[in-house]
Amino acid sequence: MSRAPRPRPLPARDRPRPLPAPDVPRLMTPGEQLAVLLSRPGTELLARLGQQPLSPAEALRLGTELRADYPAELVAAALAQHELRIAAQAKFSRAMRMFFTRDGLEQASGEVVAQHRRGRYPAGGQLADLCCGIGGDLIALADGHPVRAVDADPVHLRMAEANAAVYGVAGQVRFEHGDVRDTDLSGVTAAFIDPARRTGRGRLRPGDSEPPLAWCLDLVSRVSQLGIKAAPGIPREPVPPGWETEFIAVGRELKEAALWSPALARSATRATVLPGGHTLTPQPGPPVPVAPPGPYLLDPNPAVTRAGLVAELARATGGWQIDEQIAFLCTDQPVRTPFARTLQVLDSGRWHQRELSGRLRALGIGSVDIRRRGLAGDVAQIRRQLKLSGPHRATLIMTRAGDRPWALICQDLPLTPPAPDAPLPAADRIDETPRRS
Ligand SMILES: C[S@@+](CC[C@H](N)C(=O)[O-])C[C@H]1O[C@@H](n2cnc3c(N)ncnc32)[C@H](O)[C@@H]1O
Repeated sequence: MSRAPRPRPLPARDRPRPLPAPDVPRLMTPGEQLAVLLSRPGTELLARLGQQPLSPAEALRLGTELRADYPAELVAAALAQHELRIAAQAKFSRAMRMFFTRDGLEQASGEVVAQHRRGRYPAGGQLADLCCGIGGDLIALADGHPVRAVDADPVHLRMAEANAAVYGVAGQVRFEHGDVRDTDLSGVTAAFIDPARRTGRGRLRPGDSEPPLAWCLDLVSRVSQLGIKAAPGIPREPVPPGWETEFIAVGRELKEAALWSPALARSATRATVLPGGHTLTPQPGPPVPVAPPGPYLLDPNPAVTRAGLVAELARATGGWQIDEQIAFLCTDQPVRTPFARTLQVLDSGRWHQRELSGRLRALGIGSVDIRRRGLAGDVAQIRRQLKLSGPHRATLIMTRAGDRPWALICQDLPLTPPAPDAPLPAADRIDETPRRS
């Protein structure tokens, strides 16, 4: 049998040439990106991007222009960091000088909430900020305390250091890379832990965290003054007796819950509304009356409803419930409170959609915000079916009153600020005396 001839190598000039390397930046690790951003060219380049958001077209044009002076990887990292800084302005006043990863920013506590929480720790002593992330809480905690900051992610830890420097508090902090489960807490008098609710693989299931909540709660056996950040939807069951659950809103946005160990707790539950620092706690009192709607409606802040303090709000404002199951209150007077949005009721009656169209048109209402509580219905479809026309805008409340479907047509109270020396209602004061365990 004759063998097939072996192929002879092509002469060098005929061999295929490797394709030219594509003009795309090599993917850098987050640690490499941070290192180049912290280098002198990185700092210079970030400063050139300025303080403003860039439209996609501007970013493209600027990217091309900058690649003439800087390596493509650095330009890509700087543009991404610039975008994160712009988004971070919603949380930090010095965002444009700080460093973030997308996950780190998403999970970071904003300045207003972190500063409020710092106020819950007694002065003096050494704090531990466990799972410090990019340092959102750290920059507040270190303003007044020496802090040990621990994180398992070296990039977050380095960012926390850079961010603490931006706020002038890095000198107060000892940065420790490692797993908080292995951290020696001797010498620490109080601790704060903000476990991760995301991992590299994405968002964890609601209620799950890393380390898990049960591990965080157990820390109290080592550090009695302990605060834990939790999601605002946290169920009551896992929180042991003697702990305080504080629900924190910024304006009307419910941001998070904080759990305070018995040594720091002052109440079983609490609703706090920032930036004013108004805080409401359980106050025993007579049952809240249930009666038909009146001239003003109070729509409680979500921190108040989550903390189960609607009755306290009713007693503090002289209000009543319009239904036993519903968290709307009514008052005879135009009450102003940080714990609720106050609306003036223009029209109130049983929910009959066809009649409602006529009532809205008679009031000249051409557009409505629909607020639904206790009544099912497709809001978008209802809005279409109402066929509104008119120059005015109103809030349409779909709810129950006396266990019947009810509609309230409302408008916001005019924004006249309360007199500066007006006393706060009783429910508005914070009890500053720590409860002794
Ligand atoms: C929710 S973030 C912290 C946010 C931070 N409080 C802030 O305001 O910026 C959670 C952090 O926990 C870290 N982490 C998760 N498990 C950890 C562990 N076992 N030990 C140390 N750090 C951990 C993650 O790397 C992440 O940076």
